[in-house]
Parts: sequence; C-alpha cells; structure tokens
Amino acid sequence: MALHDRTILVTGGAGFIGTHTVVQLLSEGFTVWIIDNLDNSVLEAIERVRDLVGAELSRKLHFNLGDLRNKADLEKLFSQTKFDAVIHFAGLKAVGESVVNPRRYFDNNLIGTINLYEIMAKYNCKKMVFSSSATVYGQPEKIPCVEDFNLMAMNPYGRTKLFLEEIACDIQKAEPDWKIILLRYFNPVGAHESGKLGEDPKGIPNNLMPYIQQVAVGRLPELNVYGHDYPTRDGSAIRDYIHVMDLADGHIAALQKLFISEDIGCTAYNLGTGQGTSVLEMVAAFEKASGKKIPIKLCPRRAGDATAVYASTEKAAKELGWKAKYGIAEMCRDQWKWASNNPWGYHSKP
Ligand code: UFG
Repeated sequence: MALHDRTILVTGGAGFIGTHTVVQLLSEGFTVWIIDNLDNSVLEAIERVRDLVGAELSRKLHFNLGDLRNKADLEKLFSQTKFDAVIHFAGLKAVGESVVNPRRYFDNNLIGTINLYEIMAKYNCKKMVFSSSATVYGQPEKIPCVEDFNLMAMNPYGRTKLFLEEIACDIQKAEPDWKIILLRYFNPVGAHESGKLGEDPKGIPNNLMPYIQQVAVGRLPELNVYGHDYPTRDGSAIRDYIHVMDLADGHIAALQKLFISEDIGCTAYNLGTGQGTSVLEMVAAFEKASGKKIPIKLCPRRAGDATAVYASTEKAAKELGWKAKYGIAEMCRDQWKWASNNPWGYHSKP
C-alpha cells in the first residue's frame, strides 16, 4: 500500500509535539485523524496546522474531541475508520504535578493507554508509535544514555512512562503480531519554522525553554537557574535539547519502519541529538537569537534533577535512518520566531 493511502490516528494531536508531527504526516501524504481532549491544548492550534498545510492537505485532517479514558470515544472512532497505525502522544507530563496528584497521572496516562490497546486489538490495528521519555533513564550512571540501560522511575510521571513501556512489551510478547516502537524523547524545544506553531503551556512553565521564552517577551521577570554547583563545565545542568521538527521527523521514520519491517517486536529508540548543552549555554544561545537580555537568578538545585543527560543516537540512526538536523542556534531562532509572533501563545493578551 502506498503511503498516501495510509490512515493514522494521532492521540494528543493538538499538543506541542502532536501538531508539529501532524504537519509532517500530512506533508508526507498520510490521512490523519486526531483524538484530543484539549486538556493542555487548544483548537486554534489545529486551525494553524490547517493554515500551514493548505486547503488540499487540510481535507485529509480530521479532528475529534475525545478522551482516551472514555472507551466509547475510541469505539466511535475505530468503528467508523480503519486505522493503519496509531501515534500515541496523549498524556500528562508535568513532573511536579504528578508528585502532588499521582492518581490524575495514573488515570490519564495508564488507563487511557490501556483503553487504547483494548480498542486497537478489537479492531485489529496493531501498529503503535508510543511517546516515551528520557525520564525512564532516571539518574543515568553513564552518559550517553543507551537504549539497553537499566531503567528507573524518579516520580509518578516517570513511573507512568516506565510502566507503559513495559505494558507495551508485555502485550507484544503475548501477541506477536503487534509492532510497537517506543520513542524516548530527550528535551523537545523550538517551534515550526513558520513561527505559527509552538509550545503554549498553561500557567507558569515548568520547563526551561518555555520559561526563557516568557522572560524574553516580558511575561515573567527573570529565570531561576536551578543549580550552579553541578560538576559540569559551568556548574549548571546539562541536557540534550532537540528541535521539535527533528522530533516530528523521527515519528515519520518510526512509522515507515512499522510499515516496512517485519521483525520489530517492541523496540525503544532515543530521539536526541547526542549533544549536551548546559542551562547557562541555553540562556546565552537564546539571548543571541532574540537580542533580548534574559535576567537570571542562581538558585539551589531542583529536587530530582540529574546532572547531565544526553542520548546515544546510534540505534535510531542505524535502524530508523533518522538523525537530528538542527542545532541549538536553530532551536532558539525558531522558538524566538514563535514567541515574538505569539507572545501569549495561541491566546490573545489577557
Ligand atoms: N531549569 C531551570 N529553570 C527553570 C526550568 C528548568 O534552571 O525554570 C533547568 C532544570 O533544573 C534542568 C534543565 O533546566 O536542569 C532542564 O529542565 P526542564 O524542566 O526543561 O527539562 P527536564 O530535563 O527536567 O525534563 C524533561 C521533560 C520531562 C522528562 C525529563 C526526563 O520535560 O518530561 O526531561 O529527563 F521527564
């Protein structure tokens, strides 16, 4: 079957990584159905996707308001449409919130995903790309992180990702006709190069780049830098930041692998650049890209943060034929374009 005849269900397709991936899927010729409960996203993002891809490709995009915890919402979709594969983004991802309200995380991330597997099995759709996270490496003893390292959860959010990886592999082992690819994202940042799509977190951002962005546009006064006494080159923590468009392309590569290869089983791939960047280096890169000064306050370490985390990229390069194209300068350039065009995200100034 040619790619343009394939129909993909994208859960959480209105979110940050979801919207960017949907643009790439439509551009590749796939038909896309989205299910999203708009818990941390807005319909305006879907309108922007339609705008970007144009009227013709937009006809291949179908949006459904629905919640994976409600089996009837899934049943309705699967009984009407034959899906060739599912890309499963939908889920909650704030570490701190998961510590305060673990049941919300278990309900959304675990129950939602288990329901999805049930309905997929019922309708014989057994190809899945799952959004996992570098969080499953916990505090890695060695870097770069290699896919076969021992895994560890540090908080309830991380535990949902770890459990869901194990659940996926249990299902695939018991029913070998499943093909499941687990994508472990490192730190997704940046935005669509048009400046029309980007990350728009609700409330005060938890993550570094959305926070820096809000300081740059004047919504927040200064950045708290959590930790300046780490054993790193400048004392701040090191992460592997990856451009969201590279990440989106990683999903296309994974999907193609699902359709082309026979012996996939249940396999994990890191999606990172393999390059570590410190918090202070990220601040400097964003200042350069935006021409704005980002005032900082040096603060104590944040509980549960690792010193340095970055990916080994060999497995994805070898088996998916995928490699990140963009560096820190492009991530900051595109994120600034999004921020300066949309200082209040998808909303207008309150
Ligand atoms: N940081 C600050 N100030 C802030 C926000 C973050 O200094 O206001 C620092 C953090 O302490 C950390 C670095 O910036 O050293 C990156 O923090 P992020 O919150 O952006 O990202 P994390 O690496 O902590 O978390 C990301 C994902 C999680 C995932 C984790 C796995 O957001 O979902 O990677 O490693 F669990």
